[in-house]
Amino acid sequence: MTEPKLHPEFFNLVGNVRAMRRLKPDPVPLHLVRQVLEAGVQAASGQNLQPWSFVLISAQEHKEWFRQRYSDAIESRMRISKADIESGEKKVHPDMKAVFYQMEHLHEFPYVLLVCGKRDWPFKVPQEQRVGLAPPNFGAVYPCVQNILLACRAVGLGAALTTMHQVFEDELHAYFEIPKEYGVVVTMPIGWPMGKFGPVRRKPAEVSTYFDRWGNRDEPTHNVETDANP
Ligand SMILES: Cc1cc2nc3c(=O)[nH]c(=O)nc-3n(C[C@H](O)[C@H](O)[C@H](O)COP(=O)(O)O)c2cc1C
Repeated sequence: MTEPKLHPEFFNLVGNVRAMRRLKPDPVPLHLVRQVLEAGVQAASGQNLQPWSFVLISAQEHKEWFRQRYSDAIESRMRISKADIESGEKKVHPDMKAVFYQMEHLHEFPYVLLVCGKRDWPFKVPQEQRVGLAPPNFGAVYPCVQNILLACRAVGLGAALTTMHQVFEDELHAYFEIPKEYGVVVTMPIGWPMGKFGPVRRKPAEVSTYFDRWGNRDEPTHNVETDANP
């Protein structure tokens, strides 16, 4: 068999897309963000429905409005204060310092991107149970979100995904005049990173992979080229 042509840059890039929560206040040209969003919308979606829409927030008063609600949501839901983090008395996740930095400086970052998704009942929900608003089609929007993260990395921008807006989503809808046919899937501050990009920490895929049935780690020997059976 001829070896497939690899794109090593892709593998390097995909392993370096960390949540970048500390961003500089320096301006970012809009054309770069447009390029990033263009990469986002190359994603696949069921029936090619492309159920995403974006609200790119850059106006100062809007960012401040968002920052206030976002901070309230984090402090109320996570039950951690800045004092807890600084005193070191409470055991907190190592990312919390960065989460709090992001929360306090969010209004200084150049952009906050809202990625919205069209609401759509999953097939498994029977007709009679479809009461009220459907959730956004998360599965159809996340490939676009991941493309956006990758594209930010490719142009040197930092971005981090947050979902805490769910706590104040009704207010968010009203403030940004988002139609009820859409839900907000993720919010993403975007800007030049303060720190360096670095490799992500993940379990190797091998740990999560079984062959032919759950729990079986024996590599197949039939119809498959393996290292042992080329
Ligand atoms: C579905 C989803 C929801 C997430 N929600 C949040 C969030 O609300 N706040 C946050 O700071 N990060 C959030 N993240 C980012 C993850 O916490 C982060 O990517 C993960 O801990 C791995 O860290 P790394 O990206 O630095 O490698 C979310 C990521 C995903 C995929």
